[in-house]
Formats: sequence, structure tokens, C-alpha cells
Amino acid sequence: MRIVMAVLMLVGLIAAPVAAAGQARGHTVAYDNYSLTVDGRRVVLWSGEFHYFRLPSPGLWRDVLEKIRAAGFNGVSLYFHWGYHSPAPGVYDFTGIRDVERLLRLTEELGLYVVARPGPYINAETTGGGFPAWLKTVDGRARSSDPGYTAAYREWLSRINPILARHQVTRGGSVIAYNVENEYAVNVDPLYMQQLQENARADGIDVPIVHNNCCGGNLANWSSGQGAVQIPGVDDYPQAFNCQDPGTWGTWGDGVTRRLRDDAPVYAAEYQAGAIDLNNAGYEKCRELTGPDYMKVYYKSNIIASGATMYGYYMLHGGTSWGWLPQPNDVYTSYDYGAAITESRGLTAKYDEFKRQGYLMTTIKPLAKTDTIAPPAPADPAVFTQARANPDTATQFVLVRHADRRTSADVSTTLDWSTPDGSYTVPVRVNGRDAKILVAGYDLGGQRLVWSNSEILTHVTVRGRDVAVLYGRDGEQGSTVLRYSSAPDVRVLEGTVRSSFGGKDLRLDYTHSGLARVLVSGGGRPPMLLMLGTDQTAAQFWRMDTAAGPVLVRGPSLVRSAAVAGDWLVLRADMDQAGEIETFAPAGRVVVDGRLVTTRRTPSGSLSGRLSGPRPVTLPALSSWQYRAEPPAFGDSGWTVADKTTTASPIKPKTLPVLYADEYGYHYGNVWYRGTFTASGDEKTVSVNAITGRRGNYLVWLNGRYLGSAAGGTQADSEPPVNQDPGRGDFAIPPDLLATGSTATLSVLVTNMGHNDDWTADDTRFKQPRGLFGVTVDDAKISWQIRGANDNDAERGPLNTGGLYGERAGWHLPDRHSRWQPAPATMPTGVSWYRTTFRLDLPADQDVPIAVRFGDQPDRKYRAFVFVNGWNMGQYMPDAPQRDFVLPAGVLGRSNTLVLAVIATEPGALAPAGLVALGNHWTGAAAVDQRG
Ligand code: GAL
Repeated sequence: MRIVMAVLMLVGLIAAPVAAAGQARGHTVAYDNYSLTVDGRRVVLWSGEFHYFRLPSPGLWRDVLEKIRAAGFNGVSLYFHWGYHSPAPGVYDFTGIRDVERLLRLTEELGLYVVARPGPYINAETTGGGFPAWLKTVDGRARSSDPGYTAAYREWLSRINPILARHQVTRGGSVIAYNVENEYAVNVDPLYMQQLQENARADGIDVPIVHNNCCGGNLANWSSGQGAVQIPGVDDYPQAFNCQDPGTWGTWGDGVTRRLRDDAPVYAAEYQAGAIDLNNAGYEKCRELTGPDYMKVYYKSNIIASGATMYGYYMLHGGTSWGWLPQPNDVYTSYDYGAAITESRGLTAKYDEFKRQGYLMTTIKPLAKTDTIAPPAPADPAVFTQARANPDTATQFVLVRHADRRTSADVSTTLDWSTPDGSYTVPVRVNGRDAKILVAGYDLGGQRLVWSNSEILTHVTVRGRDVAVLYGRDGEQGSTVLRYSSAPDVRVLEGTVRSSFGGKDLRLDYTHSGLARVLVSGGGRPPMLLMLGTDQTAAQFWRMDTAAGPVLVRGPSLVRSAAVAGDWLVLRADMDQAGEIETFAPAGRVVVDGRLVTTRRTPSGSLSGRLSGPRPVTLPALSSWQYRAEPPAFGDSGWTVADKTTTASPIKPKTLPVLYADEYGYHYGNVWYRGTFTASGDEKTVSVNAITGRRGNYLVWLNGRYLGSAAGGTQADSEPPVNQDPGRGDFAIPPDLLATGSTATLSVLVTNMGHNDDWTADDTRFKQPRGLFGVTVDDAKISWQIRGANDNDAERGPLNTGGLYGERAGWHLPDRHSRWQPAPATMPTGVSWYRTTFRLDLPADQDVPIAVRFGDQPDRKYRAFVFVNGWNMGQYMPDAPQRDFVLPAGVLGRSNTLVLAVIATEPGALAPAGLVALGNHWTGAAAVDQRG
């Protein structure tokens, strides 16, 4: 009992903040041409992008941020999405899923620095590029110093800036840099850039202001003149976005981050770490396009070629563009991005590669200050080298890769290497698409690393003994040379390692395989355990900072946190299957997820024990579907007369009145239109133009009779010269339908697919309208009404629903049980609602990410909106490859209601849908907050 109490008390300790960013007092943030500094200490900012708005379960933010930290990142880059917080002018919400202070507090607790990116424009493949859709009706060019736009964005910044200011490192928080605008590269207005910065300063922002430039050398880079920022960075997407061809290599260049200012660090502001799925290849292909080979060659090349000390990898976890978050042209619901952490928060081979590189970047302090030096020459010109050195310690970092990055040949050669400790002939091999960063002249704890052709994963010092992990490709030769004043004692504990001592050098030769272990003691230095692994075995290690110094843990699928208290090492860790845990820490007992682990002391001086894995889970079948029909333009309430004759959009309508949905305050999702006219009886054709964005469409009924559907106009229609006939559909009127002199009712349902971005800062794309662009029924004079969302869902917000009758009436919500019927065998044309319920009984100490999966039905003629407990978790639509819709814990609970709102252009059958588990992780009780 006492042990249990002690363990519980110790588990309480793990919530204590660990690293520098989390302290309550303020710190000084500065920078020079090498790096950022915090209180004078150099910091390599190794960060990547996370979108809180793409994970509408704040209880899971910790999970993702802990995973990011565990891979060795010390920072995150965060966009803040204006439109996500502002449904209407003057209205802002920072509660619940929008509670960004909660997010910032988490980063502080976890010791992650934040690059805050509040826009106002963010791009990010989200609707309007982060602009609220109401901005479309504001006069004045967006992304300029025009007064109309200025007044609008100041509203947003006056809300978000004070929050960010409170959380700056200078006030004891985590925000270390403030990113103004986003890739501001065309149609630029320097006054606007300057005003954004003046605004930030006036709102209390005192950390360095940065900007992410894009598009190479042709465009403004904000490094001097009006609008210049302190630390201009560069966005680089060398692999581009064609996931259909994941074997491509460097379509958009070398990916070497340029130095933009002599007095500021080199900043890789957004460096490609995944891809949008532009060509419907599916995100696994995007993960391949940007996989470990690419990461090795491009990231390592960039580190050495550019000397960048600030990185923002885009994305680390992409998430879900739930509701109406997606921008219509480039993406669909999933924003998995082929990232290192999947949409369902799973860890991938890319995560392992990030860990291998991240541990190097954040362990090896001399990397924060380096200059280019002459590299060691390779004997074979097929191999390319490039090098940097720290001017204070002389530590060298040498990149080794193929001279032709595209080749995947197997080349072995030698380097003629003048290290700080003497000249050596060093064997190297590059096999396949690969690159290595080799280190020489490095004080590794109490050791002196002369050189190694293995790469350094990391090292820690535990009770006066150095523990280091080096690694190389499986089966490749390796050599490591360490310096001692006299021959040390060398004991090979595992694997095959030959050692020789000559001069003052201990040389170890081996083949990378499994995990070799060597104990070195004596020789005038503290003892060392050197572990020599492969890519795979190195990735099994986790390095965690504790108040007692960094510790190493090997085995678990994830280590979330570590604390040392007395003789206890207290860990929070995940297991995907039962297996070994090994710890290297100043502690004699190990507690994992609140349980004492039975351990034994190993010959390596570590503790080893076993952990069990998750219990298998079964998910319920989806059955007993109920049904409800939504007749065209159903119901009499909620309609708005559409009679405007002017619009702020630069794209003017084909017929009047203006029928653009935004003009009537209906900004997201489906809208119904109802037009009435007095029929002559001779009408032949209904001609419609609509603009919906890619994959949008509209359906037309006359007097309740379905006439057909057509695709809506797309972004391309807004490129000059603007298409005057976008999304055209002509529908013949059946001869018997209209009686002379009768009142005819035309009903049109338009599925608007979100708003274009404003990449070009010229308004024509972003302010391209949504909805009907023009309608004629021969010469009839039509009176119009429009009905969209009723915006009364404060919890889920304005991006959750559109104007389907069922959405307005709450049919998507869990508590509406009445008047549902058994589902018919055939789904009719038009709007149908399907509903079922299911119960989840998942073990509280396991994380089981769940998705609803639709069966394949490539030629289907419908789209379905997936509502889970009222949350619109995406759109299953024709012409998009997505079949799995991830449903995060928090959105899911124990009792669940799944509602599909279906819009069919032809009668048919709904694809079968079922629940799938996308993982099963033992996490321990508190790791994932199931309540969201
Ligand atoms: C960048 C942009 C990001 C995102 C990315 C592509 O150019 O800054 O917001 O759009 O491209 O995914």
C-alpha cells in the first residue's frame, strides 16, 4: 500500500514543467547572425507546425504536443486562424475548442517554444486562407493598407495579440517569435507589413518579428526597407505536391534555405515535411514523397549548406479540416498531409527520422553557431561533402551524400579529413538516397570524439558515466575514434566490435547491426557506455529531460514524460505491444504509467523490465439506420429576401438581384434558394450559373420536380479574364409542368465548398462569390429568397453547419430522436438524412483512434456529411480519395450518434459504413483525455 501511495505521489510530480520555456519569470530573447538566444544561451529552434483548429478536441492537444516533444523538437509553429474565431464582425470566441490560451499554457508546461503566426492571412489550405468569410463583404483590398481591410484586421489583432503577448518568453511564456503575415510575395504593400508590426509592438509583442518568405529570389523578402522584419525566413517545398509520383526528387529545387539578413539567423520558416494531396493519390503516397530518404538528403543537406538554426517543418501533424475548414481547391476533409504524425495521431517512419535528426540538433550544442569550412575531400567524386564548424569549439559537421542527389547508387570511398584532432582517412559509404552528418572534434560528455563515420543520435551523462548512441545503416561498416591519454579498458558487451589503441586514439571498427554495446573505462576519462545501432534500433531510444538531467529510455512505442524523484524514475509511456523497457537514468526503480516495473540491473548498467501491451478491442457494428427526408426548400421559416443589387465582390453577377450567399450572411456550407415567378406556361429552360469552388455542385427543382444538377464554378473562373459563364447548367422544363398564370417555385440547393485563398493578395480569388451567379427562366421575373445556416451553435462554431433544413432544425444533433423512419432500400434524389447510434466501451488506459470507413463506390452520385454527436467531421464526396473519417476522442464519447446528411443527384444506394480502429496504444490512465 505504501508503495502504491508513493507511486501515486511521484506520478503527481510528472506534471511539473521541465524545460526552459515554462518558467514563470521572464527571459531575455535576442539573436545574432548565428542563432536566437535566451538569457544569452544559444538556442537552435527545431520546431514544426501543428494546427489546433484541425483537432477539435483540446484534450488531445497534449497528446500531439507530447509526441512532438518526444521526437526531440523544442518548439512548435502555430497558425492562429482568424475565421475560426470570428463568425461575424466584432464577434470573437476563444473558448472551448478555440481556447488558445489552453494551448499556449500546454506549450509552456511541456517546455516547447512557440512561433506564433496570427496572420491575419495564413493560407494553410483552409477556407479563405484563414480570413473570415465576412471579410468578403468588406470594401478594400485584403492584405493591403486599405482602410476598410485595416479596420477589419485590427479587430482580430486587438484580440489575439494581447493573448500572444501574455505568453511570450519575455514574460515567462513560450512564444519566442511572432510571424507577421504569410508568404507575402505578390501585389505587396510595404506599408501594410510595417503597420502590422507597429500594431504588434503597440500590443506588447517584444519578441523578434519574423516572416516566412516564399518563392525564391524574385520576390520581396522583407529583409530591408519599409516593412522589413527582424528575422526573415524562407519557405521551401523542394518535393512539390505531386503525390501520384512519390519517386520524384527535388521538383522545386535544392531546398537550401537562403540567408536573408547578415544580422539575423538563417531561418527555414516552413520546410516541407509532407504534402497536400493535389492529385488524389491518397496521403500514404504523400508520406512516401516526403519520406525518410527525402528527409535524410534534403534536411541534412540544408542543415550543413545553410547553417540554419531556426526550423519550422510543415506539418508535423496535419489533422482534420472538419466542418467547412477546407479550402476548396487543393484539399478535402483530411489534412493528414503525409506528416510524421498521422491524422489519427499515429507515429510513422518519418517520425523516427525526425527523432534521429532532432536529437542530434538539440543535443549537440556547437551546432548553434557554425561557419562554412572547407570540407574533407572524398576520394571518389561521386560523393559530395560540405562542412561547417563551430568557431569556438572547432567541432566539425560534415555532410556526406551523392554528388548527384537523384542517384541511388552504392558508393564506398574515403574522406581525407583534417579534424581538429589530426588528419585521418575516413571510410564512408552512401547507398541509395541517403545523406549523413558526421561529427569530428566534439566533447561528448566527458569523452573526446575525434571522428566517427556513424551518426550521433544523442548522449546523456548518468551518475558520472557517459551513455552515447551512434548509428548507421544496417549492414554498413562503421568506425569511431575517441581520444584518451592512455589505453582505456574496452569491454564489448554485445555485438562484434574490434578495438585498437594507437597514439592517443581508441579506434572501434564494426558493422552496424542490431545494437552493439561497448564499455570504455580508464584512459584518463570518465567511463562510457557506447551503443552502436542501426536506424531502426537507434529509433527505439527516447531522450527525456528531467530536473536530474536528461535520461534515456529504450523500448516503449512512445515516452511522453520522465521525472526523477529520489531513487525513482517516473515515466509516462505508450506500448503498442508487450515488450522490453530499458532505462538509463540516475534511479534504481522504474514506474511506468503509475505502475512499478520489475526490473533487473543489466551488464550495461541500465535497468531492464517488461511492459504489457494493450488489450484487444472490438468495435460495434453500425446498424439500424433510421431515415428522414428533407424535401426541396422545405419549411417556411428562416428565409431571407435576396434583393441586393450591389456587391463588394470584384466579380459582378450575371443577373440581378445579387444572389451571393455571403451578401446575406450565409458564409459556410449548403444554401437553399427559392425563386418564385408567375409562369406564362411557355417557359422552356432554366439556365443557372453558380460558383461553388472545386467539387461543389447544385441541384434544381421546379414546382417540386427534380430537373437535374450541375457542377459549380471553380477558382479558375476568377482568373482574368473572369469567366462570365461559370458553373453553367441548362435544364429543360417538362411541357406539362407550368400552368399559365400560376405561381411557379424554383428551388436550388447549392453546395458551396468554402472560400478560395488569397495567395495573390488581389481580392479576385478570395472575394470570388459563392452561390448563385445568375439564373434565368426564359424572360420570367423571379423574386428570390435564400436560407443558410442559423449560426446558433456556440460550442462547435460557424464552420460546423450550413443551411440544410435538417442542420437548422438540429437533425444532426444527438438528442433529436423523434420522427425518424426505417431507412428505405433506395436513397432518393435530393437530401436524405440517416442516423444510427453506437456505444463505445474502450479501456480508459488505452488510446484507440477510431474512424468511420466508407466502402468503395467510385461512381457514386452523392456526397455525405458525417456528423458525429453533432460535429461535422467531414464530407465523403465523389472525386475525392478519402474513405476514412477520423473521429477524435472528445468528439466521440461513450454513447454516440452518427448522422449522415446525404445529397444525391441520382437515386442509388449508400456505401456501407463501419467503424475501424486506426491503432491501439496502451497509454496509461492520464495520457489521453478521452473527454476531449
Ligand atoms: C505554404 C503556406 C502554407 C501552406 C503550404 C502548403 O506556402 O505558407 O500555409 O499553404 O504552403 O501546404
